[in-house]
Amino acid sequence: MTSKTRIVLSSDHAAIDLRQAIAAHIQARGFEVVDIGPVTTESTHYPMHGRAAAEHVAAGKSDLGIIICGTGQGIMMAANKVAGIRCGVCCDTFSARMIRQHNNANMLALGARVVGGGLALDIVDAFLDAAFEGGRHATRVAMIEPV
Ligand code: RB5
Repeated sequence: MTSKTRIVLSSDHAAIDLRQAIAAHIQARGFEVVDIGPVTTESTHYPMHGRAAAEHVAAGKSDLGIIICGTGQGIMMAANKVAGIRCGVCCDTFSARMIRQHNNANMLALGARVVGGGLALDIVDAFLDAAFEGGRHATRVAMIEPV
């Protein structure tokens, strides 16, 4: 992805600090960040934040999205309910690279209670630095449809 790439960020209350660290990191790399909150650590509901970020990407307002909750799982499930979204939870850099290269993922989910801050930033970098390979993978991605 180029440095012009716009990335929407969102989380629930479990991941405010990590979301802010990711925002600072990718901004320092030159990416454009759209942080749609929430701002405080008051308890909130991960589905609405996952959906909001996913709708942002699906509408073309951002190129990619990064969403975070305690495990990454719930917010990923909510995001994947939005048509056109392909979001994977990653706890390692290999998976983060592969969901771009093979699955053309347009969103990355992270678990703030699963991965440490340093690994989370490496996972983000792996995701942003990878590119979809197309070819046979495009055929398969096209087969990912709501039933
Ligand atoms: C919040 O306590 C927690 O359930 C949430 O962050 C997430 O892990 C859900 O998948």
